[in-house]
Amino acid sequence: MTAYKAKMVERIALPSRERRERALEAAGYNVFALDSTDVYIDLLTDSGTGTMSDAQWAALIRGDESYAGSSSFTRLASAVSDVMGFPFVVPAHQGRGAENILYGTTLEAGDVVLNNTHFDTTRAHVANQEADPVDCPVDGARDPDADEPFKGNFSIERARSIVDEVGAENVPVVIQTITNNSAAGQPVSVENTRLVREFADEIDATFVIDACRFAENAYFVSRREATFEDATIGEIAREQLGYADALVMSGKKDGLVNAGGFVATRDPDLFEACKQRAILYEGFPTYGGMSGRDLEAMAVGLREAVEEAYVADRVGQVRELGAMLEAVGVPIYTPTGGHAVYLDAEAIFPHIPAQEFPGQVLVCELYREGGVRGVELGSFAFPDTDRPELVRLAVPRRTYHREHFEHVAETAELVLERAEEATGLAVRSDPPIPELRHFTAELEPVSNL
Ligand code: F0G
Repeated sequence: MTAYKAKMVERIALPSRERRERALEAAGYNVFALDSTDVYIDLLTDSGTGTMSDAQWAALIRGDESYAGSSSFTRLASAVSDVMGFPFVVPAHQGRGAENILYGTTLEAGDVVLNNTHFDTTRAHVANQEADPVDCPVDGARDPDADEPFKGNFSIERARSIVDEVGAENVPVVIQTITNNSAAGQPVSVENTRLVREFADEIDATFVIDACRFAENAYFVSRREATFEDATIGEIAREQLGYADALVMSGKKDGLVNAGGFVATRDPDLFEACKQRAILYEGFPTYGGMSGRDLEAMAVGLREAVEEAYVADRVGQVRELGAMLEAVGVPIYTPTGGHAVYLDAEAIFPHIPAQEFPGQVLVCELYREGGVRGVELGSFAFPDTDRPELVRLAVPRRTYHREHFEHVAETAELVLERAEEATGLAVRSDPPIPELRHFTAELEPVSNL
């Protein structure tokens, strides 16, 4: 059952095969370099690419663009307080701006930070403080077939063994990312969050939740964690987030806006410190890099994100896309997570070795075959790690419908049928920062070499 009808539309078209071939070659086989007008169905990311509601568009008009004391900020702060339960908010231009504020305030060189899995920008911001980001996923997080309800959980056991090694005094911050984007968007149970809280208390660390997809996470909890079967999404979200000392939020996800983010905390001292850093990097703390109208849209978006009808429709779309792909025999990571379906490129191209980037080959073939844009999250994006060769098809919020997903599944089926013909890729130009190479590196087919 759908929860929306369209009120505004954007024209899209599938470019001809010749045009797609030319575009792919001109992009150096890197879909980040494609013009969006050459893309038919854009599943590159769910970040800032969703559709705002009529209520959000109406709220934009009310935006108070005052430099200081904007009433739009007051409305955002009251939404954060009502929906997430935090009294102090510092806005930022997006999630990574919030990460810069919080981690720049709480970390020092030589610190160790534990996280169920660091998202790329989180890892980079921790490293930018010369601290060491260490992942603590549970066993099974990397297994595309393990049928567990909370594969996104934080492994306390792993975290304890790291603390034993480096000493509790060197671990000032523990992070939990909900849902766990780098582990196929898998959810985290409230019970696990409670245990992380206890663990953080034990080692006297600040407990931060990366809350980008907090509403999707709450939806899974409502369906999979027995204690919460009668609770509303809003109640679950407040309970889960309530265990943290601070939140980092990208509003481009469950804030349902195209740009924006914030740090939230209940600690007045941390709030003061964050405000100072915000002034340096983002803006005065009542706008923090956002326009007043965007603060308004995010205030409305946060409230919409915890509506049962919204989040059931949202997670239902991801599940539906996953089911369509499975029905045509495409190997995917299961169970599907909250924001994306992850395809197993290694299983699709067993003849392409990791150093020839089977995931990136799959990304290119999906574009070549049907103008579908996804993103590689395997050995191209994460060199020198032993990540599975996954390709993420992220679903923008409230944007696509069943016909779009049918096209994606048909495209993937065609790619699968011709899988044996596909050849590997080699990197032609290596950008200076290895961690960021997948955004701008150019590649070429090994058959051209
Ligand atoms: N944390 C998580 C878990 C994220 O997924 C992202 C962004 C960020 C922080 C940073 O937020 O983009 O607003 O600066 N994820 C996007 C993605 C880019 O495609 O998954 P941002």
